[in-house]
Amino acid sequence: MKKDLTKLLDLNKEDINNILNAGDQMKYNQRHGIIHDYLRGKTLAMIFEKNSTRTRVSFEAGMYQLGGHALFLSGKESQIGRGEPVEDTARVLARYCDGIMIRTFAQSEVELLARHTSIPVINGLTDFAHPCQVLADLMTIRERMTRLEGLKLCYIGDGNNMANSLIVGGLKCAMNVAVACPEGYDPAPEVLEFAKTATGAGFILSRDPREAARDADVVITDVWASMGMEEEVQKRRIAFEGYQVNDELMKLAKNGAMVQHCLPAHRGEEITAEVFEAHADEIFEEAENRLHAQKAVMYLLMGDK
Ligand code: CP
Ligand code: NVA
Repeated sequence: MKKDLTKLLDLNKEDINNILNAGDQMKYNQRHGIIHDYLRGKTLAMIFEKNSTRTRVSFEAGMYQLGGHALFLSGKESQIGRGEPVEDTARVLARYCDGIMIRTFAQSEVELLARHTSIPVINGLTDFAHPCQVLADLMTIRERMTRLEGLKLCYIGDGNNMANSLIVGGLKCAMNVAVACPEGYDPAPEVLEFAKTATGAGFILSRDPREAARDADVVITDVWASMGMEEEVQKRRIAFEGYQVNDELMKLAKNGAMVQHCLPAHRGEEITAEVFEAHADEIFEEAENRLHAQKAVMYLLMGDK
């Protein structure tokens, strides 16, 4: 595996499998009270330039469970908010800490940070990608459906960070990926480029949610307006009309199809309250698996081998 986890495009199938297997083991250890303090004495710096509940709590609790420590750095309150260059922050944090988790806007900032520091950098969400979330999604799907290969993953909604990471993660795991987005809200060009080259898996990008959902094993959606797009909420409500995961759409999916949502969810927009509650077990398991999957990532990147 590379030094950092900045995007799933950098991982191969074996890397993803190693993370998912280690995630399963972390979950087993946690459930059975088995001590797994593989990161004793180590510190993770967590930089947040956007809001978070799950990412912050799961990384912080995860570090504690691994015997280490996590510290929260608010983008605004640290010197980052006053314009200290990323390259300098990168070199300073490497003198105190053993890893950095960052949630920010531009993917280029995460890549810059990773290039200028000797310690692992983990992407906790950018406008482009949400790799830790998708690792947790893949872990949850595999756990519940016993495999990933050959399953149909359907994503309905905005071609955002979640769509980008689901396409890459799903295809790398030999899933068939079907995405329905309104025109003008497609996934990133480099992700669509990657999708063209993916072998052993199928990909379609459609304007029709029904086509994407037909015979799906798992249906996934996300908010219509991501963090940083608050001014577009009204415009997006109009653009995304019809791109809702509801009972009618779920009828097209396979019997027993799963639903995943990274959360927070907007009931009545991208998903109805009925579908959300009918699949709440799967959705909150997905949230829980953030903890286990990220502990696996931290162990693999920051542990002594
Ligand atoms: N899914 C997710 O990343 O949640 P938070 O924004 O609460 O971290
Ligand atoms: N696409 C959403 C995901 C939130 C976890 C956002 O970026 O706000």
